[in-house]
Amino acid sequence: MTITLALSKGRIFDETLPLLAAAGIEVLEDPEKSRKLILPTNRPDVQVVLVRATDVPTYVEYGGADLGVTGKDTLIEHGGGGLYQPLDLNIARCRVSVAVRHDFDYAHAVRQGARLKAATKYTSIARDFFAAKGVHVDLIKLYGSMELAPLTGLADTIVDLVSTGNTLKANRLVEVERIMDISARLVVNQAALKLKREPIRRIIDAFASAIPKD
Ligand code: PRP
Repeated sequence: MTITLALSKGRIFDETLPLLAAAGIEVLEDPEKSRKLILPTNRPDVQVVLVRATDVPTYVEYGGADLGVTGKDTLIEHGGGGLYQPLDLNIARCRVSVAVRHDFDYAHAVRQGARLKAATKYTSIARDFFAAKGVHVDLIKLYGSMELAPLTGLADTIVDLVSTGNTLKANRLVEVERIMDISARLVVNQAALKLKREPIRRIIDAFASAIPKD
């Protein structure tokens, strides 16, 4: 019985390694060097598949992977339906924020009843946030480089992930509101949880014991 874990390259992969180590699992290839999409581990019954961050919930939902690690942001946009979400792993922490050009009058732009153009990859989060304020928002869906949108006149604001704030600073954008804190979650396929109960439980318990403290 093979256990398949879906991860995305970068912070999620790197910060999941210590949790895997706690479960006695060591990934045998470096995704930054290898072109392989299925990475073997020291355990013959465990493999890691590398997918796009936004695809992790989809892989786990439909059983392409038994477990996955995904950001809360990605999970909200996916909807989370059909996924068992046993753990907040407290890794890959950042926040979703609203940012504007340094010379944009945001306070004026978000008064109730106003209309605003927002560019984002996170359309559900942005829609809910501005709806709660009573601001009409025209959402422009982007897939990356959100910071360009206010600089080119494509949008008034962006809703994007902020970690160190360096990307905003480098593009002379200002963070004007924090919408929510983000961290990565462990997600599990519901059928796999029943069919592969013991090995999956062991991984969940090991991850739980190794969650970094604040
Ligand atoms: C994210 C986000 C920002 C950047 C913020 O991009 O979209 O561009 O990180 O980080 P900072 O505050 O530390 O500068 P990511 O690198 O995840 O790639 P993406 O553009 O594909 O989202």
